[in-house]
Amino acid sequence: MTDITALEAEILGAISGAADEAALEAVRVSALGKKGTISELLKTLGGMSPDERKVNGPAFNTLRDRVQTAIAAKKTALEDAALNARLASERVDITLPVRPEPVGSIHPVSQVFDEVVAIFADLGFSVAEGPDVEFDDYNFTKLNMPPDHAARQMHDTFYVAKQADGSQHVLRTHTSPVQVRTMLAQKPPIRIISPGRTYRVDSDATHSPMFHQFEGLVIDEVTHLGHLKWVLEEFCKAFFEVPKVELRARPSFFPFTEPSVEWDIRCDRRGGEIKFGTGNDWLEVAGSGMVNPRVLENCGIDPAKYQGYAFGGGIDRLAMLKYGIPDIRSFFESDLRWLKAYGFAALDLPTLDGGLSR
Ligand code: PHE
Repeated sequence: MTDITALEAEILGAISGAADEAALEAVRVSALGKKGTISELLKTLGGMSPDERKVNGPAFNTLRDRVQTAIAAKKTALEDAALNARLASERVDITLPVRPEPVGSIHPVSQVFDEVVAIFADLGFSVAEGPDVEFDDYNFTKLNMPPDHAARQMHDTFYVAKQADGSQHVLRTHTSPVQVRTMLAQKPPIRIISPGRTYRVDSDATHSPMFHQFEGLVIDEVTHLGHLKWVLEEFCKAFFEVPKVELRARPSFFPFTEPSVEWDIRCDRRGGEIKFGTGNDWLEVAGSGMVNPRVLENCGIDPAKYQGYAFGGGIDRLAMLKYGIPDIRSFFESDLRWLKAYGFAALDLPTLDGGLSR
């Protein structure tokens, strides 16, 4: 008769020695499979006398149960080990410093864009947008420049081929059509800025055929030039990061504002460097005025009840002044060395309390 204790020790040894699930399965088949050692043993019970069976039956069954339990436990252990090995091999140490790969930087125009938005958001303005390809009607006519108006000639417009219905589109020559879009879509009070791309047929060191402007528009029941001046002063202090600025108003003309005012900022240009807030030089920063009542009417706003002010400035121009960039064309040459010199850290978003340009 088989020595059960020795057989059990042999099988349990094989189980614990199985290196992987395939080896364990082989052990299971050789013990519990149809022709396995334990199965063969159980078959012998049939030929035994009742007394022998009484002794051997429970012993064989206990052996089978123990082997089954041992195989199940080993299977779990092998699965855990496989999972742990995989976790260890896929482990990433997130405390390691990032790789010193070259990272992109923020273009000075994008930087100034974000700075302008941060400053005006703090003053309670929201951002409005319009398309680059604009209706002639919104770019000119509704802004009090009908088709034969002389002021149109100053805009050096890129015209788009006429549409099938005869309507004319242009590449917008300024961001002022966003004023029109906002007034047509929204009831006063209105307080928006609209930074964006603009286009004119012009190219030299201070002009690019594609450039950027920001527009401001405020419409309410009581607005006046004093509000406009205060807003521009607050903007200039925040933008040029100086505690005090001085603005000088010059009478001007825009068909869509009446009266119209251009603003110069006091600065000092001695020593090849510009300082704002001191000195005896003046630099133009914005065009502006009280919105012409005709424009309000054209856009469905009652000029007897409401009035407002508008202003517009060049974003590229502001970037050139603030960051000492001499030629506007360099903005759009995609020269990586230039971007490296003038670009801003990618993750430093300008905020008023965290610093605009640091
Ligand atoms: N749109 C004018 C320009 O491009 C600037 C401006 C905006 C003037 C708003 C007055 C009011 O020259």
